[in-house]
Amino acid sequence: MTETNIVTSIATPNIAFIKYWGKRDYTGLNTPNNSSISMTLDETVKTTTSVFFSSKIKKDTIFINGVEDSILAKEVSEKSRYMNAILNKMRSLSKINYHALIVSENNFPSGAGIASSASGAAALVIALNEALSLKMNTKELSIMARQISGSACRSLYGGIVKWHKGSRDDGTDSYAEQIFKKEHWKELIDIIAIVDSGTKKISSSIGHEATVKTSTLYKERPAFAERNIEEIEKAIKNKDIDLLSRIIMKDSNNMHATMLDTWPPIMYLNDSSKEIIYNIHELNDSQKNEKYIAGYTFDAGPNAHIITTEEHRDEVLDSLKGVKGIKKILESHQGAGPRILSKDESLLNESTLTPKKMK
Ligand code: DP6
Repeated sequence: MTETNIVTSIATPNIAFIKYWGKRDYTGLNTPNNSSISMTLDETVKTTTSVFFSSKIKKDTIFINGVEDSILAKEVSEKSRYMNAILNKMRSLSKINYHALIVSENNFPSGAGIASSASGAAALVIALNEALSLKMNTKELSIMARQISGSACRSLYGGIVKWHKGSRDDGTDSYAEQIFKKEHWKELIDIIAIVDSGTKKISSSIGHEATVKTSTLYKERPAFAERNIEEIEKAIKNKDIDLLSRIIMKDSNNMHATMLDTWPPIMYLNDSSKEIIYNIHELNDSQKNEKYIAGYTFDAGPNAHIITTEEHRDEVLDSLKGVKGIKKILESHQGAGPRILSKDESLLNESTLTPKKMK
């Protein structure tokens, strides 16, 4: 055999309800200080990735959105380095030693400001597993994806997902698993208000370490997050949007407080994010029965994710009207998790060894 099949996969991002911020290991293991819980998004936002190993390929090459990104270049980003390390690790577990051609595309509306690292890493490990015939199970693949970007381990499953922090030094017990299928609470939606489309000023990798090192408030954070995990599991089990909203807002605010308490301070929220926070509180406070109907949560960026149910969708959209700086609104239900596509949906041209769509 001189080459593998061309394998193409799709994966989607996830939004954390209980956040991962702060690591036990900074050498590429990405083991976290606390467990976390997220909702996998549907294919409104997705990464598609094709991989191919062949003796015709002269060096490992990756194209992202039609542009070559040399993963072996000297000055590569940390994420590219981790991606390269996982490519090497998975290839060494197989009998194949050819170079790889990887073509990856995000469908995110241009400038959506949605991080592609989680869906990108999940799509990559799924495709590598198949192309290299490794037969790893989803838990093992979540451990692989975690080493590219921590939060990516949760994008290996659909529905509601828990990342167990684990305690071993080698990270073998720090993995994700699905805790609720998407059908359990199918009315749950994420309304994403895009208020900034640029890349973040401080990468999350740098942020995690700076907060753990310098924030006094952070000392309380892992235990607070673990308590929130118990509450959020209860809220989802009982489909309790009131409790879910309260917990996710508090957890997001708590994480962003530790970021502000970092020295020098890290501030991901902007004025539009803050206006959305006030509007959602106003919306909840105006409910006659005192039950909350929606909750905001923010990852390492200013874009708001507002979690609510279909029933309250229009009220939430109304409350966003007039917020200055909203560039776009996306909506997502829970996704089903990654999948492998058919052969003819490949993104790469086998004869020219380039992406079908070049920039
Ligand atoms: C704020 O997963 O991007 O989105 O492991 O360094 O790649 P690395 O960090 P990353 O951190 C994301 C943190 C967060 C919260 C979360 O998704 O849980």
